[in-house]
Amino acid sequence: MEKYHQENSSDINLEDYLSAYEGKQATVRDLIYDRNRKTESLNGLWHYAVDQYDTCIRQHWFEEVHFDAKGNTAPVDYSFDEWPVMQLPCCWNTEDEKYLLYDGSMIFTRRFRYQALAGERVFLKLGGVNYICRVFLNKEYLGMHRGGSTPAYFELTDYLQEENRIIIQADSTRRPEQVPTENTDWFNYGGIYRDIELIRVPKTFIKRFQMALVPDTQMNKIRAQVKIEGAVSEGASATLRIPELGIEETFPVSASDGSGSIIVKLPEDRVCLWTPEDPHLYHTELSFGEDTVTDEVGLREIRVEGRDILLNGKKLFLRGISCHEESVENGKGLTDEERLENIRIAKELGCNFMRVAHYPHNERMAQLADREGILLWEEIPVYWAIRFRREATYQDAENQLREMIARDYNRASVIIWSVGNENADSDERLAFMKSLAERARRDDPTRMVSAACLVSFREMAIADRLAEYLDIIGLNEYMGWYTPDFGMLTKLFENSNPQKPVIVTEFGADALPHHRGSVQDKGTEDCQRYVFEKQIETLRTIEYVKGMTPWILYDFRCPRRTSIIQGYYNRKGLLSPDKKYRKPAFYVLQKFYRELAENWK
Ligand code: GCU
Repeated sequence: MEKYHQENSSDINLEDYLSAYEGKQATVRDLIYDRNRKTESLNGLWHYAVDQYDTCIRQHWFEEVHFDAKGNTAPVDYSFDEWPVMQLPCCWNTEDEKYLLYDGSMIFTRRFRYQALAGERVFLKLGGVNYICRVFLNKEYLGMHRGGSTPAYFELTDYLQEENRIIIQADSTRRPEQVPTENTDWFNYGGIYRDIELIRVPKTFIKRFQMALVPDTQMNKIRAQVKIEGAVSEGASATLRIPELGIEETFPVSASDGSGSIIVKLPEDRVCLWTPEDPHLYHTELSFGEDTVTDEVGLREIRVEGRDILLNGKKLFLRGISCHEESVENGKGLTDEERLENIRIAKELGCNFMRVAHYPHNERMAQLADREGILLWEEIPVYWAIRFRREATYQDAENQLREMIARDYNRASVIIWSVGNENADSDERLAFMKSLAERARRDDPTRMVSAACLVSFREMAIADRLAEYLDIIGLNEYMGWYTPDFGMLTKLFENSNPQKPVIVTEFGADALPHHRGSVQDKGTEDCQRYVFEKQIETLRTIEYVKGMTPWILYDFRCPRRTSIIQGYYNRKGLLSPDKKYRKPAFYVLQKFYRELAENWK
């Protein structure tokens, strides 16, 4: 029997080759505070191979066994250091056109040297890998992460040597049980497409640091919270400094769980609250033992009162636009210049708000929005056909939500967490998304919770049961496009009577740049302009509509869109895919937003 097993134990007959590599999942619990920390970049040239059949995992390439039991050289199916190289971070789809439509696994590997410093701990941070990544260091499996748009952290401390080999599997396969599922209206870019960094911290270090204005309508106190990892002695304390406000406060940290928090009264009339018009950021420092972290934090309060949205106690209309994280040249791996361009075009459009859809964008987006002054709606990809009955799917969604909140908690520009987009109202979906909304509030009581809901065509009204659990109702309605009759737009709002603010999170129409015709001709710029005119004509009269983020800033790649107008792009952009051309509808929205800004009291 033993011999039989021996002959047949090779990988080719292994049915379950993966379950041993589904454990050690990096989650929100592994996230460490890293803003402004000294890091060592592992960006650069990595050797890679396309691994369609997961042979790396099946054959344990990461163990680098080159000899058989008798000491003979064993044939291997990889050549780590002879493979071609790819400049990371990037999306392989836009890095090399032969991989444009590739969904699946790629294996990336490189060597790096490491000089240990006494008593430190070292973490690997992957800013974003779509969708699953698995990390191997010096022949050891370190763990995996699910979720294509939130960071993953792995501790390397006990595995590092002077000379190291790291191997990362990036698996962009779309699956029905994932979040999002296999069916989305955007392009599935794959790869290690955000920064790859080593983070060194002292043995006892600041794992979490969160600070915000206390949401009590007074706008005169901040709460700072800290979580220390490592040994904390009785009577230990942390110190918060905000030099510009003359704040230096020391507060106790629990020896039992490393947590500590303090509420600090702000000096009267010296505080400059953050707004898009005056995005003032305070240099902030938090010290504990030999560790100090810093951040640039804006102080502002966002809340809802009846049907109004208030920023720092003043009523607000969110003049917004939706935006994917994508460019023709870099796919989902945007550069800072491309993010800044998006923010500047949105501001040129007259926006004070962007819906960065449908998944957490790079953390640099909220950092730049803090600096440039624009409010953000951030969202997890609980999108079409989610398997709401599946517990593991819920855990995946909740973890992505918690990672997004933990990552961007200190970002003043972020005012709304969205728990999803356009899911049909069902009992399972209600339970799933209600739990997500409650989780968002537990993790962050300082922001609003929303979701982009669907119109109830049965009632021709805003009648999504999820609305009860949201602070703000997002509504996607395509009157004049998918539903041709504009008359239904008026009826929709006449039939609705929400007791909280509504943001129309999507309306719009496809238009091929420079394609002209009559307003009835779908796909022309004339039709798109007309849809915007008619939508604005109605929406501006609805008292409880307190914002809009029309779909979408610029055309984006979409494999579902194959008509002659679309050519594998979703053409609802106000600009061409390269953002060089503004369609006529851009100026219709701009005119409305500029008038609104001038006349808003
Ligand atoms: C939906 C969806 C978008 C999609 C858009 C469209 O509302 O939320 O992701 O791109 O409609 O149909 O263009």
